[in-house]
Formats: sequence, C-alpha cells, structure tokens
Amino acid sequence: MFNLFKKDHSPRPIFAALGTDMHCHLIPAVDDGSKCMEESIECLRTMKEVGYSRVIVTPHFQYPRFQNDEDDIVRRYRELQEATEASGIGIELAGIGGEYRIDSGFEKRLDEPRFLRVSGNYVLVEFSLHQPMMGADELIFKLQMKGYEVILAHPERYPYLNIDGQRMEQMLNQDVKLQCNLLSLGGFYGEEARRRAFEMIDRGWVTFLGTDTHNTLYAQALADLSRNRKVERLLEKHQFNNKEL
Ligand SMILES: [Fe+2]
Repeated sequence: MFNLFKKDHSPRPIFAALGTDMHCHLIPAVDDGSKCMEESIECLRTMKEVGYSRVIVTPHFQYPRFQNDEDDIVRRYRELQEATEASGIGIELAGIGGEYRIDSGFEKRLDEPRFLRVSGNYVLVEFSLHQPMMGADELIFKLQMKGYEVILAHPERYPYLNIDGQRMEQMLNQDVKLQCNLLSLGGFYGEEARRRAFEMIDRGWVTFLGTDTHNTLYAQALADLSRNRKVERLLEKHQFNNKEL
C-alpha cells in the first residue's frame, strides 16, 4: 500500500552532469577494490543509476602493497569490459588509468614510459594518507617535465596538506589538477575531509570529481549521496572537466 511517510531511497541520476567517472577500483582482485566480477558489475549498475554514462577505472600502483603490472592490468580490464557489455547495463568502460602512489618505488617508474593514463596525457597520482613524503613535489615536477599532466587524487583526504599552506599554493601554481572524491562531500571519510572538499571546490580549485568506488559499500554510499540536495546544488553551481576525459 502506498505510504505517504515512507522515505524514498531510490538513486537519482544527479551525476549525469559529470558524465564520466575517472577514479574507481573496479578491475576485480588487483587491489583493495572489487573482489570479483559480480561485485564490479553491481557497482557499475549503481553508477549508471546515479547518472554516469562512462567509467574510467584506476587500479592502485603502490610499492610494495600493490605491485601491479601494466600489461596484466590491461588484460583484466578487457575482461571487465566484456562482462560490462554482456551485462546490458548500458554504461561504457571508457579507459584505464592507474592511481600511482608517490612513494619510494615511484622514482624508478619515471624512467619507464609505461604510465596508464586516465585519458590523453593525464596521470592520476596519490600521496600517503598519513604523512608527507620528502621530495614528493619534485617527483610530480619531474613527471610534468616528461610531458604528463598530473591529477592529484583526493587532496581533501591528506590531513597534513594545509589548504592555506605553501605546498598547496606551489602545486596550484605548477598546474597540478585536483580531483576530490564525491563521497567526501557526504562525510564518508569524516567531517574534516568533508569540510576541506567543500572549501576547495568553493575556491574553484577542483578540476575533476571522482567516485573512488572500491566495492558495493561505496556504491551504496554513492546512491545515498545522489539524494543529497546540497551536493545537487553544488553540481549545478560549479563546472568540472570530467566530460573532457
Ligand atoms: Fe583510489
């Protein structure tokens, strides 16, 4: 029976304005993301329901935790692509980048021109969530010198990265593009990350938004976020470049 007081929990397609997700971990069993193909497909189904039409996957490359090999990742990406097509969800697997941790193993990578790029010359990088790494800014600069455009994943999640600090200013001056996580806006990573994400977006610093979907828990949080009016208004007010990818 129809109940006037029953809350509507269905997902809303508010992320259609972004069109493309450019950060998620949906290649099964290669990092701390999705564990199996069924889980990936379930996540993709939710992403379609909240409005996405294209998805670029970005498995972790992190020494020594995730020592992924680019060729192997590409092979597994093709399997995901086939399964997605067969599922009939109607969402496009539009590319494969890596999420490269700037760590002690990263410098060696600079000599190997094998970066999996999100699109064009864009390379997605992340920092440690706990402490700054000495020389990280120089490594980013070296990457740029090689002709790559650098996107820094979830700057709102690094508590040591002061929004008003010199390091932040330097990255913006160096044209490092910032990508915030959508789930930060709903408080998924805590109040501090939520506040910082809104602040960076309000300052006009954020070029891309990503879901960083790892599993169905994240997908459910994304569905919940699709009913958040504040986030909907933010997407109407600010422009992001996801569709360019
Ligand atoms: Fe990620």
